[in-house]
Amino acid sequence: MAKKNTLISFSLLLSLFAFSFAIEDDVTCLEGVKTSFTDPLGRLTSWAFNNSSVGYICKLNGVSCWNEKENRIISLQLPLYQLSGKLPESLKYCHSLTTLDLSNNDLSGPIPPEICNWLPYVVTLK
Ligand SMILES: *[C@@H]1O[C@H](CO)[C@@H](O)[C@H](O)[C@H]1NC(C)=O
Ligand SMILES: *[C@@H]1O[C@H](CO)[C@@H](O)[C@H](O)[C@H]1NC(C)=O
Repeated sequence: MAKKNTLISFSLLLSLFAFSFAIEDDVTCLEGVKTSFTDPLGRLTSWAFNNSSVGYICKLNGVSCWNEKENRIISLQLPLYQLSGKLPESLKYCHSLTTLDLSNNDLSGPIPPEICNWLPYVVTLK
């Protein structure tokens, strides 16, 4: 019995651990996006990362989450933001992303082929 309880709390701890990493990841993703792009219109200026409340990043400009109770980004839509720069590798931390819309910006360089590994669930890429 005691052994079973230990096992249960261990796996609980492990999933909490994984969960908090997942939250960190999506924040890391957005931080990378913000720092990689030049943003002449200042649309990303309001992207601050000093509030660790769950759901906070979901309210940032252009960001949508799977639900309000998780910092798990489903889509990142930043069209017509006049962003320039290269696609950041930190996008790989947006594991759960299905839509990435960076259309009508001024991005340089090709779309890296690694994007399929970075964002395995993306179905809409603009
Ligand atoms: C977070 O940073 C922004 C911009 O620097 C500031 O306006 C805001 O008040 C800060 N929020 C918190 C919770 O510290
Ligand atoms: C942090 O974000 C949460 C969720 O969006 C919000 O309810 C809360 O007021 C924010 N806290 C601060 C200090 O801005």
